[in-house]
Amino acid sequence: MTQTSPAQLTLGDKTITLPVSKGTLGPDVLDIRKLYAETDAFTYDPGFTSTASCESKITFIDGDAGVLLHRGYPIGQLAEKSSFLEVCYLLLHGELPQAAEYEQFETTITRHTMLHEQFDRFFSGFRRDAHPMAVMTGAVGALSAFYHDSLDIHDLRQREISAHRLIAKMPTIAARAFKYSVGQPFVHPLNKLSYTENFLRMCFAVPAEEYVVNPVVAKAMDRIFILHADHEQNASTSTVRLAGSSGANPFACIAAGIACLWGPSHGGANEEALNMLKEIGTPERVKEFVAGVKDRKYRLMGFGHRVYKNYDPRATVMKQSADEVLAAVGDPNDPLFQVAKELEQVALSDDFFISRKLYPNVDFYSGITLSAMGFPTTMFTVLFALARTVGWIAQWKEMIEDPSQKIGRPRQLYTGATQRDYVPISSRG
Ligand code: ACO
Repeated sequence: MTQTSPAQLTLGDKTITLPVSKGTLGPDVLDIRKLYAETDAFTYDPGFTSTASCESKITFIDGDAGVLLHRGYPIGQLAEKSSFLEVCYLLLHGELPQAAEYEQFETTITRHTMLHEQFDRFFSGFRRDAHPMAVMTGAVGALSAFYHDSLDIHDLRQREISAHRLIAKMPTIAARAFKYSVGQPFVHPLNKLSYTENFLRMCFAVPAEEYVVNPVVAKAMDRIFILHADHEQNASTSTVRLAGSSGANPFACIAAGIACLWGPSHGGANEEALNMLKEIGTPERVKEFVAGVKDRKYRLMGFGHRVYKNYDPRATVMKQSADEVLAAVGDPNDPLFQVAKELEQVALSDDFFISRKLYPNVDFYSGITLSAMGFPTTMFTVLFALARTVGWIAQWKEMIEDPSQKIGRPRQLYTGATQRDYVPISSRG
């Protein structure tokens, strides 16, 4: 970070100088760390719309231009040319791996995919109809009860082992959450398969017959994982950082991130988006539905984004994947895909959406794709959590390794009662 001309702030009869820092890309930031000490005032920014909570070198988004870079590489290039595991390495280490580094990383992740045998008994404590995100939140938090030897957050090697364990075990946990909900036996990982093929097999193989991975589906799944791998300081990542700022162990922090991701304004939107398309049912009903959105009866799920005020670059890739998967294993004339395309077209030409800069986000087409692959809607956010784990853990590591890191402790604008005396219950009017 470099310094540029400072800003002057006048509050009452006091004028103070605020340092202004420049990143490599994106807006400058006003450094207000001494504001309270020097002026006795806080800043007020609900939803953190104008607040940079940390310095980071991992991911950059230019929401107006529709740009997403991981360690400088555009998401479109990574989705087209890379693999999810390579993106994991990139996010964790800052650079694309050399061939030998990649081989070692892939071996390490592959060798960590199994779960402690006792862990499998944990799943049977849940009701069969439990939402798989509820199972994920509990199961990932429980990892800290099984892997005590990588919980020391001050030890670099232990932090690395935890990161590898999380990336490796998440597909196994996610597949078990799915298998448990459909009443099928758990499928153990198979090391000769790639990360994504292995995950698909753990989800869809049954003991009664051989499972052959469809390469189109595996490629699309891998791409979906790449598209969801990280997204700078979004709600769940900020949750992971905040939980981690107190020194909590990485498994507990990722469980907190999963809980946050579950919400319909965040990761839960892909589930809601597909439910919405089903509710609309046919392209002919799109106009009526859009009228309801404009009357503020409901929101158009899979549309709009806190940061992107342009087409989400991930949505472009996602739409292409939806096309490929439907052609390979679904129905290219799938009525829901037709509804989605009609809805996108109607919304993008309507002033309500244009004036508010509302464009499709990554979730708009992901549900259709995942559904064609055979996943129920309840699994959509689980897949998002699986992919985002690397982003969360890379951001968590960056925070722990940042010398300026402090426990996160926001302030507030208090508007409640002023001090008053306790009144016994018998005397309350
Ligand atoms: N449908 C209809 N109107 C919308 C939508 C939408 N999806 N999103 C925003 N708006 C409108 C709001 O009503 C508001 O209009 P107004 O100014 O006339 O009151 C304006 O656009 C701004 O909306 P905000 O809620 O202030 O925007 P914010 O940046 O806080 O919200 C959010 C972003 C939560 C993602 C929102 O666009 C939304 O709810 N979208 C639907 C859910 C969704 O798809 N979430 C996925 C996000 S991507 C992800 O997590 C991977």
